[in-house]
Amino acid sequence: MDFRRMAIEIESPEEVGYQTIRYNLSESSVRDLPFRELNIDLSDVLLCYTEHRGSTLLRSLILENSKDFELDDVLVTTGAAMALFIVATTLLEKNDHIVVIRPNYATNLETPRAIGCEMSIVDLDFDRQFDLDVEQIRQAIRPNTKLISLTNPHNPTGKLFPLDVIKSIIALAETQGCYVLVDETYRDLNFQTPLLPYVASLSDRVISVGSLSKSFGAPGIRIGWLICKNQSLMYRFFAAKEQMILGNAVVDETIAAHLLAQKATFLPPIHAHIRENFAALKTWMSSQSLLEWVEPQAGVVCFPRLKTGLELDFPAFQKTLYSEYQTMVGYGHWFEQADRFFRIGFGYPGKEDLVAGLEYLAISLDRHSTVQRG
Ligand SMILES: Cc1ncc(COP(=O)(O)O)c(C=O)c1O
Repeated sequence: MDFRRMAIEIESPEEVGYQTIRYNLSESSVRDLPFRELNIDLSDVLLCYTEHRGSTLLRSLILENSKDFELDDVLVTTGAAMALFIVATTLLEKNDHIVVIRPNYATNLETPRAIGCEMSIVDLDFDRQFDLDVEQIRQAIRPNTKLISLTNPHNPTGKLFPLDVIKSIIALAETQGCYVLVDETYRDLNFQTPLLPYVASLSDRVISVGSLSKSFGAPGIRIGWLICKNQSLMYRFFAAKEQMILGNAVVDETIAAHLLAQKATFLPPIHAHIRENFAALKTWMSSQSLLEWVEPQAGVVCFPRLKTGLELDFPAFQKTLYSEYQTMVGYGHWFEQADRFFRIGFGYPGKEDLVAGLEYLAISLDRHSTVQRG
């Protein structure tokens, strides 16, 4: 397989150097959690192999005592990233076809491309509020379609697709006999909506993917999972995991279980912080003459764009923002979109840093955008 690196990873803060960024508005997660704030004693942890599917405790915490699932419906993975890789490589071969809703997290496009399968892309349209168009998805389906892939809550727009739309997509998959991958990495970042059940609870044609990276600020423990009620599929996913890593790191799993067991303690202050920053972001957006947006509903990212009729000298803009103001946002090309789009991550920085970073973004846009000629 011919793997290619993805722009979003090449240009990520951890690759360019966190120390070079003062105002980090490029993250899709909340603030990284310092180990000391975990209040955990790991001295009795035995550095053994753990259950290959993930410890029983961790898996039951992931399932939140839901009556919809059995314990073996969940497989712990090394981040959501590994879950996505397992799903694509298990389900897709060269002669298969996938429908991908774009923008999407880059892995959901690149791994199918590396496999070499046929791909139809259904683009979300800013001018239609980034709403999912089920009819477009229906038209994209072919006899060899094996998978429909989307993220919800959505990265990078912050959209939360309505349940009836998700159900219509599942109905399409059931008719076609294919699967739906719902990347639910942002599920716990429901700072203004109720927590929805995993989409996998609705049908055994659905694979839900989750993670502790974004909502708990714990990407460093690399714990994610996939959930599916189809046991023959789960057997294949599990076999793929065993061939890659056998089981996860026992220290990571212990910390993950600790976080999930105390979700009620860890998440409320995180949500309060997001709400505060979101209010500041909304105030800022309402004063912007160069930008327009579709207001996000969940998660900690939004995807505004430079208004129609304006042109941006992107390289000069990026240089000013990064080199002069040590500020970073996510760029349109990370999501295969024009660089008149920006992903603003409003959950990661403290409020003061967010406000300062937004001001530098406004100044940089002002300096490098012009009215389009002709
Ligand atoms: C939609 C989506 N899925 C998966 C991932 C990967 O997350 P993890 O750190 O759990 O591997 C990301 C990270 O940005 C993401 O945005």
